[in-house]
Amino acid sequence: MFLSRLQLEHFRNYRELDLSFRAPVTLVQGRNGQGKTNLLEAVYYLATSKSRHVRTEREAVDRAAADEPIPYARIRGEVLRGEESTTLEILFTLRGDGLNYTKQARVNGAPRRSMDLIGHLRAVLFLPEDLTLVAGSPSERRRYIDVALCQIDRGYCQALSRYQKVVTQRNSLLKQLQEREQGDSAAVAAELGFWDDQLIELGTQVYTRRHAYLADLAPIARRAHAELSGQQETLSLLYLPSFNTGLYSELAYQRLRDGEEVEADGLARQEVDAAMIGQRFRERLEERRSVELKAGSSLYGPHRDELVFLVNGWNLRAYGSRGQQRTGALALKLAELQAMAEATGEKPILLLDDVMSELDAQRRGALLGALSDVRQGIVTTTDWAQFSADFQMAAQRIHVVAGTAAPAPAGM
Ligand SMILES: Nc1ncnc2c1ncn2[C@@H]1O[C@H](COP(=O)(O)OP(=O)(O)OP(=O)(O)O)[C@@H](O)[C@H]1O
Ligand SMILES: [Mg+2]
Repeated sequence: MFLSRLQLEHFRNYRELDLSFRAPVTLVQGRNGQGKTNLLEAVYYLATSKSRHVRTEREAVDRAAADEPIPYARIRGEVLRGEESTTLEILFTLRGDGLNYTKQARVNGAPRRSMDLIGHLRAVLFLPEDLTLVAGSPSERRRYIDVALCQIDRGYCQALSRYQKVVTQRNSLLKQLQEREQGDSAAVAAELGFWDDQLIELGTQVYTRRHAYLADLAPIARRAHAELSGQQETLSLLYLPSFNTGLYSELAYQRLRDGEEVEADGLARQEVDAAMIGQRFRERLEERRSVELKAGSSLYGPHRDELVFLVNGWNLRAYGSRGQQRTGALALKLAELQAMAEATGEKPILLLDDVMSELDAQRRGALLGALSDVRQGIVTTTDWAQFSADFQMAAQRIHVVAGTAAPAPAGM
């Protein structure tokens, strides 16, 4: 797939933009704060209907536009797939409350749910902060898997969003029960029973899908990582649930949780049996009923799971150097790109936000390799000199200043 045109109105610091993409690689240069990330965000919005940075729709709309009589923002893109062209659009309009914005999606002009945008344009976005994924918090790593999976599996996205609602509902019930401090365990069990069933059913779906995704990613990431580390290190990517679902030996599970070295054969991965997982999940909830009641929140399930990186059996988060952690994150990112291409039969668009400057020559080479392998890449930089003359010659070069983008003049 190829994004041939991007139009923005009042999106972030872009009042009006109409950009056509022609070359496999677009190189976007601009000084700090001029709109490079915003440009990639707009493309990413069309792909995922979400943003990596913007927390509310309101932040997507140009601050200056908020004072206009009818404030709005629009992102529109044209995607080419073979002979077929699809127009995707997201429109942000002010709600009746005069404060918040709603998001409306359109595909070829027809209104659609924002979830239905997914699949028309697939993108892998690589931000400098992704390089700290290994050292970051578990919630960042969960979010990472979720965003990647949602683009290739709409069913997953639906199950996940239902699961998250169930967790919220169940938490508020646990909190109420905690405040009531009542001892009638039969009544408690009955009230919680309904939410337990939901939690187990949806949680098992989320778990098994994430587990399978990690199993797909792991060998690809391992190869990428071996290459990046000069065949010196072996990367294992593991999905570590919030309780032992039976896929790890009890010893291996405990050691993984504690961040201790793990024997490779302790990790023998069986086929995931959803019924077995569901059963374990139920047993766990029953065993820990009083603990959850005391905590007043749901302590088990995919919202508490972890993604673990091991290098030669050692936990990369606990023991890796900064450089090793970054290599692990880069390997994961390269694996995500390839896994998405394999799962969908199409190469996604690669969006690189000023990451080259963060990498040494060898890792930069790996990323340039990935870039030459996709049909379309959009790369931002503050400094043209980061790219060779040949690379620049082959690329479409765009210069961004204060929310305007124009072809870069020769010799810049
Ligand atoms: N809703 C908004 N309305 C208007 N301007 C906005 C809005 N949100 C962000 N901006 C502006 O956009 C600019 C930042 O753009 P962006 O993050 O794309 O910069 P950048 O070129 O990636 O910079 P850097 O090189 O520092 O990463 C800032 O000047 C910021 O104030
Ligand atoms: Mg930026």
